[in-house]
Amino acid sequence: MPLSTKLDKRNEEIKIYINGEFFHRDQAKISVFDSGFLLGDGIWEGIRLVNNSWLFLDEHLDRLLVTRGNKIKPFQQPSLSKDGINLVIIMEHSEEHPNTDGVKLVTVPQVRGLPMSQDPKLNSHSKLNCIIACIQANKSGGDEALMLDPLGFVNTTNSCNFFIVKNGEVWTSTGDYCMNGITRLKVIEICKNNKIPICEKNFSLVDVYSSQEAFITGTLGSLTQVTNVDDRLIGNVNHGWPVTEKLRKLYKDLIYAQ
Ligand SMILES: Cc1ncc(COP(=O)(O)O)c(C=O)c1O
Repeated sequence: MPLSTKLDKRNEEIKIYINGEFFHRDQAKISVFDSGFLLGDGIWEGIRLVNNSWLFLDEHLDRLLVTRGNKIKPFQQPSLSKDGINLVIIMEHSEEHPNTDGVKLVTVPQVRGLPMSQDPKLNSHSKLNCIIACIQANKSGGDEALMLDPLGFVNTTNSCNFFIVKNGEVWTSTGDYCMNGITRLKVIEICKNNKIPICEKNFSLVDVYSSQEAFITGTLGSLTQVTNVDDRLIGNVNHGWPVTEKLRKLYKDLIYAQ
């Protein structure tokens, strides 16, 4: 798991925002007729507050659509949602401590597919595909699943974007079949601005197994190094993950400069 699942005492008393009102977390409830609850019909965003400023807020709001609201019957037809959207904000404290142990990935058969099935660029409420992938990886001793695209090229993990470092170049997928993460975008920009060669390209598991470093990216975890893919060690325990470390530092500088 790239993020710490440890409970933070400060979150015990937080208030949750639901459609214009605030509720103690124990009282925060949504209707069982909510489209997101019933059918996964909604979009969500994970946004980070650093030094009282929302990170990359415009990019996050561009991706956000919320749930289609309460339905008058538990059927798919969108017109059965009569009362407008449901908007929920869960704002939690989170310690910033990079996962220095790194993560272990396992390749799974589930893919993030073509836009004509469920567009893999949507941050949909329905994470079932990704959760099944994660369970599959967990059962095989992994923290997170490495997912391929429909053509068999390396794509993404179930909850983060994936990068490798090969012969001084940073590689990530073309972005056609994965969530186009905002952290992914910022890492690509950082590479370009710092003359670190970056390629958005198709590559295969063979490239991953022979890479010098690998890391995953996401809003809450920033950059986390990958230590193992399918029982192959990635990186060098003696020399660390120098490119990942450099990018992690540049990303931290960027977010604290906001
Ligand atoms: C499947 C998937 N990939 C990547 C990401 C990372 O995106 P971001 O960097 O915008 O947090 C997420 C975050 O929700 C995700 O669910």
